[in-house]
Amino acid sequence: MKTDFKKIVSVLLCCLILSGTLTISSFAVDTAVNEEYAPFRIHVSVNGDTSAQKGFCWYTHAMTESKISLFNLSMEPVNAEIEYEDVFEWGGNYCHKALVKGLKPGTEYYYTVGDGNVSSSVGTFVTDDGDSEFEFVSVADIQASSLENFLKGRNTLNAAYKTMPDAEFYINLGDFTNDSTNEEWDYYDKAVTDFNQNTTIVPISGNHDGLGVWNWFNNMFSLDTSESVQTLNGVNYSFDYGNAHFAVLNTNDVLSVSIPQLVWLYKDMKSTDKDWKIVLMHKSPYTFGKDGKWPDALYLQRALTAVCDATNVDLVMSGHDHQYVRTKKIKMNMQNDSGTTYVLCGTAGSKRYEIRPFLKGLFMNINLIEKINVQRTTDWDGTGWEKTGFNLEDMTNPGGQFNTISVKGGTLTFNSYVAADKQFDDNGNIIESEDVITNVDSFVLTKETGSNKAEYSGNKKTSSFVFYLGIIPSMISLAVYTFGEWFPKFIVNLPNLVFNVIKFDIF
Ligand SMILES: [Fe+2]
Repeated sequence: MKTDFKKIVSVLLCCLILSGTLTISSFAVDTAVNEEYAPFRIHVSVNGDTSAQKGFCWYTHAMTESKISLFNLSMEPVNAEIEYEDVFEWGGNYCHKALVKGLKPGTEYYYTVGDGNVSSSVGTFVTDDGDSEFEFVSVADIQASSLENFLKGRNTLNAAYKTMPDAEFYINLGDFTNDSTNEEWDYYDKAVTDFNQNTTIVPISGNHDGLGVWNWFNNMFSLDTSESVQTLNGVNYSFDYGNAHFAVLNTNDVLSVSIPQLVWLYKDMKSTDKDWKIVLMHKSPYTFGKDGKWPDALYLQRALTAVCDATNVDLVMSGHDHQYVRTKKIKMNMQNDSGTTYVLCGTAGSKRYEIRPFLKGLFMNINLIEKINVQRTTDWDGTGWEKTGFNLEDMTNPGGQFNTISVKGGTLTFNSYVAADKQFDDNGNIIESEDVITNVDSFVLTKETGSNKAEYSGNKKTSSFVFYLGIIPSMISLAVYTFGEWFPKFIVNLPNLVFNVIKFDIF
């Protein structure tokens, strides 16, 4: 890992030289044209081999050429194989995508994107060195509509990088915006553009990024879609980083997850010999949040966990329900030391959910839960909750939540933090004050390295024919769960639910 000093000097040198170059090259271009041609919404994402490739996506207001320039730490241009996609119009702007290949492992690069005349500011990223030591951070559910609320998400992401400055990438577990409008994506871009330009993102599609706002997610990132069961409302993909294998699910697929996607996950996890198997997804199988009462999420307690059990997944990270819930290690929906840990990762944004105590029992087995954090001062008195052994006061830490994950060989260390909210001025800008960051959960997973064997080497791709063939069985499977298991439990729970609505105004 490079030292901070080296990074700072390199960035300054890079900025000086490039700004000089860009100033000269842009001299004849007037400001209005610059604005039309200037790149925005710039993302560098995982796309295939993390030691050699990166996906690039950015937008311009005008139709322009696509050009990526790469530089090494010595400010020398770097040649790489770059596959540019055709520029296309989306939402009144123009989307540029490219795949950069042939990068060196464990190397830090600088870059600009643009059309060769008008370029972005200098960004940076690092490639995977392939060894078994790396760090990353995660956030979820910024899901804002106003710039002020996006800035609250920024405050959380800023605290994440302050806590783990050497994180090599960051995971966004979905619901980037509330309605996927141009205005919201521009607010999002304005709030977190410096993070997006200076690291690699692992994006996961949330329901606010996919359902009813078709194609937005896929048009914001350059991802490896070759194995995705569909790309209309999100993308499923996988990648290796260090000694870990990550599978990203799209829980907008047939309400939560289709049978073809579960089959893909099974094959994918069976095809890796990496030490750690990690699933990233938006909706959560284990939750006490607002959406925990609906069958789409609870169906995951049956369908998804069966695949995780069969393929020895170590960790599932999810979002969607705007609170933090960590399970014990689970197999067959029972505590098992060789099972999977499920973490609902909390929200980085300002929309935060109370606990729904009526989920306890029929929908959520409290004996499987290790830790909960509610990110708001709760509006209910916790009646009955103390019988679970959880103390409501210990579970309440208002602020934006983020997670840091460190992998060192056979040890995975997971920490979760809450960054206390900051004040805003009348213009909606953060009033800078000291960061107050509280560690609300910490756990360590350990395992013997080198013991996983790849058991599947066949084709993992899902054809459109197979996907559409699987829709009816997928709907039947969800319906069988809904009417055979969920609905009877919901009816039994109804008096409890109504009581909570009347007494605490919590649904
Ligand atoms: Fe969501």
